[in-house]
Amino acid sequence: MSTHTVFSGIQPSGGIHVGNLLGALRNWVSLQDQYPCYFCIVDYHAITVPYDPRELPQRVRDAVLVNVAAGLDPNRSVIFVQSQVPQHTELAWLFNCITPLGQLQRMTQFKDKARQHAEAVNAGLLNYPVLQAADILLYKADLVPVGEDQVQHIELTRDIARRFNSLFGPTFPEPEAYLAKGARIMALDDPTRKMSKSEPRGAIGMLDPPEVIREKVRSAVTDPGPAGAEMSPGVLNLFTLLELTAPADVVAHFRAAYSDGTIRYVELKQALADALVELVTPIQERYRELSARPGTVEEVLAAGGERARKVASQVLAEVRDRMGL
Ligand code: ADP
Ligand code: NA
Repeated sequence: MSTHTVFSGIQPSGGIHVGNLLGALRNWVSLQDQYPCYFCIVDYHAITVPYDPRELPQRVRDAVLVNVAAGLDPNRSVIFVQSQVPQHTELAWLFNCITPLGQLQRMTQFKDKARQHAEAVNAGLLNYPVLQAADILLYKADLVPVGEDQVQHIELTRDIARRFNSLFGPTFPEPEAYLAKGARIMALDDPTRKMSKSEPRGAIGMLDPPEVIREKVRSAVTDPGPAGAEMSPGVLNLFTLLELTAPADVVAHFRAAYSDGTIRYVELKQALADALVELVTPIQERYRELSARPGTVEEVLAAGGERARKVASQVLAEVRDRMGL
C-alpha cells in the first residue's frame, strides 16, 4: 500500500471563501482520514502584498477557526502558523540559492500580482513560490491539495526538489498537486478572474450572512455567451457551484432547462443561493461555538507548532548537512 504525506496552506489575507472550501479545504478534510496532513496558515505569504498589520492577528485566528469549523481535525492534522516555524524561511533561503531568477520572473501569479500592485512589487512577491516549495518539502510532503491557480507553483516545487536531489543527493520527494472538482471557482461579479480573498465583492465568504450570500448570487454575471456556442463563463461558473453544492435532482432540472432553452436565471440563482446558505450555515454555527470557547486557537496552534517544528528541524538538519553547512 502506498502512502503519502499531505501539505497545504491558506493565506490569512482576507475572508476565507467558498472557492477555498470547494477548491482545497474539502479535499484537506477528506485526506486527513488517510494520510498524515500538515495545514499551514501561511502568514509570510500574506505579507508579500500591502496589508494592515492590525488586522493580521484576527485573520490568522479566523483561518484556524473556519478551517476547524469546516472539518479539519487538530487531533489528526497538524495545524500551525508558518511564522511560528522558523525553518520555513531558512529552507526558503537555501532553495533561493538553487532557483534560477528567470523561472521566478515567468510565474503567472507573480506577473498578475506584480501588475495589480505595480507601485509596490517587492522581492518577497518574486520569491513567494520558493517559500511555498520550502513549506511543502520541509515535511517531505508529496501530495498537495490545491486549486488550479497553484499548479504552476507545485511544478516549481518539483523542479526545486529535483535540482536539490541532483546537486546534493536524494533528499526530497517530487510532490504532486491534487485537484478537486471545484479547483477553479470564478468570481461572481467577473467570471474572467478567480474568486479570491482580495476581491470580496465577487466571493461568497464562508462567514457571509445569508442575505449577503443571496444578494451576491442574485447580482452574479450571467451574460449569454456567443450565439449558439457553449455556456458563457458566468453561467458555467454558476453550474459548477450548483453541481458542487446542490442535490442532484436540482442540478438535473437546471441542466435540462438550459438544454431546452427554458432556463430562468432568477430561479437558478435562487436554487444556488439556497444551496450555498445550506452549505455555510452549519460551518458558521460551529465557528461561533469555537470562537466562544477561550483558548481554542491558542491550543490548536501551540500543539500544531510543536509537532511541525519537530519534523521541520530534523529535515532542515539533514539539508544543512547535505549542503555542507
Ligand atoms: P486566495 O487566492 O483566495 O487568497 P489562497 O491563496 O489562500 O486563496 O489559497 C488557498 C487555497 O484555496 C489554495 O489551494 C488555492 O489554490 C485555493 N483557491 C483559492 N482560490 C480558489 C478558487 N477561486 N477556486 C478554487 N480554489 C481556490
Ligand atoms: Na491563491
